[in-house]
Parts: sequence; structure tokens; C-alpha cells
Amino acid sequence: MSKSFLKPSVSTSFAWVLLLGMVYACGGGEGGGHPPMTMDHPPMGEMGAARQPAVQAAPPQGGDASLAAQGEQLFAAKGCIGCHTIGGGRLTGPDLQGVTERRSYDWIVAMITNPDSMLRVDPVAKQLLSEYMTPMLNTNTTREEARAIYEYLKSNQ
Ligand code: HEC
Repeated sequence: MSKSFLKPSVSTSFAWVLLLGMVYACGGGEGGGHPPMTMDHPPMGEMGAARQPAVQAAPPQGGDASLAAQGEQLFAAKGCIGCHTIGGGRLTGPDLQGVTERRSYDWIVAMITNPDSMLRVDPVAKQLLSEYMTPMLNTNTTREEARAIYEYLKSNQ
């Protein structure tokens, strides 16, 4: 069946998988390169349940308290908190108070999930960069995580 298809590369890929597994197991905890399995908050049962189906291309709804709580955790876990306050003034990055009023949902999600290309092509992001002089880091945040963060930001405007 799929034998001939698997044959040529399977042993080398396995070696890589093992190697990578070892690297991660030995503390590849820095730099945001986590594989999806290592979300470090096992007690959040509802989060796991909520993560799967809902999010994909869902429009912003607002007022989702459990998503917002998840977003608050991510805001710390992803390191946003090191560069942004919400209402506490400017740090390396802008104060995010009011950001859901001055930017669209899509723009914010794009900025969170892909700051690199936003800073290259989006006029507003480029303008911010010229003001703040430091490029926002890519935090390896997925769209669904970004949606939770959006809910958190929105609940704090
Ligand atoms: C290394 C510092 C740094 C980190 C970490 C960081 N940002 Fe930023 N962020 C910035 C800077 C600086 C800007 C302004 C644009 C620029 O200069 O790149 C910015 C811009 C933004 C904006 C647009 C703000 C506006 O006024 O329109 C949003 C939203 C945002 N960041 C959210 C986040 C979130 C959410 C995270 C965590 C997932 C995060 N940032 C992580 C530095 C950071």
C-alpha cells in the first residue's frame, strides 16, 4: 500500500523527529519555538476544549469572558507584557489601551501573528515602527491565540 511511498525517507525523518524531540525535552523552552503540545498551563481544561472548534475565521464578537481570561494568560506567557502595558503608558511598544478602537480586528490579529510582514508592508505598522524604532517581535502566536488576546484587549479598553 503506502509502503513504497513511505520507504525512502521514513528512517531519516524518524531520526530527525527523535533528535528534535530530545532537543525540546532538554529545555528548548526559550525563544517561543514551542511545539503546540507544550502549552504550559495544564489545569486549563476549558481552554483545551474551547481552542479546537470555535476560532478559525470567526468574527469578533466581544464580551467572551473565558476567551478574554485565556488572552490575559497569553499576554503574559507570550511576553507581550514585556513591551506593552494596557493603560500604564508606553514601554518598548505602544500602550494598548484603546487599540481595539483605533484598529480593526483583522489588523490586530495580523500584527500579533505576523509582525514581520506587517512592519514591511502595512502603512500603519510602518508608521508605528518609525515612531517606536524597535520592531515588534514575532511571538509565534496562532490566530486563535491572537483572537483570545484580542478579547482580552477589548475587555480592557
Ligand atoms: C519586543 C517588544 C514587543 C513584544 C514582545 C510585543 N510587541 Fe507589540 N509592538 C511592539 C512595538 C515596538 C510596536 C510598534 C510597532 C513597531 O515598532 O514594531 C508594537 C505594536 C503592537 C500593536 C499595535 C499597537 C497600535 O497602537 O496600533 C499591537 C496590537 C501589539 N503590538 C500587540 C502585541 C501583542 C499582543 C504581543 C504579544 C503576543 C506583542 N505585541 C509583543 C513591541 C513588542
